[in-house]
Amino acid sequence: MTGKGHKPASAPASAAGSRKSDGEVTYPSYLALDELLQLQRPRSTPEHPDELLFIIVHQASELWFKLILHELNALISLIEARDTLGALTSVRRVNALVRIVTGQLSALETLPPQRFAQFRAYLGTSSGSQSVQFRAIEAMSGMRDPHFLQVLKQHGEIAPLVKKALAKPTLQQLFDDLLNAEGVTLEEVYAGQNQRPLQMLAEGLLEYEQGFAMWRFLHVQLVERIIGPATSGTGGTLGSKYLQKTLSQRFFPKLWEVRSKFFKG
Ligand code: HEM
Repeated sequence: MTGKGHKPASAPASAAGSRKSDGEVTYPSYLALDELLQLQRPRSTPEHPDELLFIIVHQASELWFKLILHELNALISLIEARDTLGALTSVRRVNALVRIVTGQLSALETLPPQRFAQFRAYLGTSSGSQSVQFRAIEAMSGMRDPHFLQVLKQHGEIAPLVKKALAKPTLQQLFDDLLNAEGVTLEEVYAGQNQRPLQMLAEGLLEYEQGFAMWRFLHVQLVERIIGPATSGTGGTLGSKYLQKTLSQRFFPKLWEVRSKFFKG
């Protein structure tokens, strides 16, 4: 793609509302900061000093989830177009984003249990398990097992974004298709010297899986650190016991299996 199609139109009229009256695009108008900074609305009364932290970490995570979904779509298109090097560049970006969203959890590690207890009741029945974008990321990445499908249905009708992701082939299937199109097997990719780009892409996907698992691990640690291992979640699950079970889930089982064929201990 050339950058040509992305140049701003010379007439400002089409972007009314995002420009000052003289037509100038500014930092706050471009980023819709007036709206964005109005969206953090603590519910506790009097306002608990830690609720803003809790809201912002969740909202920022959802923004990063939005970008991860966007970039996963780009990755899928590149794999479908058989552009291995493009996909490699793309998966590196996805991995950078997953590291960022994982890092944010550390901000909540500064929230002691007794302080969270002071405003938890204001969250009502809201729970991260209702995050449509998180489920869409999981679905797009490859989750199809019965337990996952059952979790999806727990909150009623499956959201359109998740349905759309479920209707597509998983990343593992797309990677398999790419290998077929290149006329190689996964074992050959790892065995040979002449399949470096495909091997690096496989390693990038594995890194994605590990990065995602790291989010799951640090999230469950955070949950136990704040509400303990025995407290139920606001989403009606067994809390950390339920989350612990998700730790062993794999997006790319074949990428893990192939390794034991090469490790002759
Ligand atoms: C004070 C910090 C946090 C606590 C105590 C907490 C607690 C929990 C609990 C107990 C669950 C299990 C489901 C249920 O509610 O019954 C859960 C799930 C979840 N939480 Fe959190 N969480 C915290 C921070 C976060 C943050 C910052 C995010 C980022 C968006 C997040 C996203 C999620 C997601 C996506 C799930 C579903 C995970 C799955 O089903 O595998 N949580 N959380």
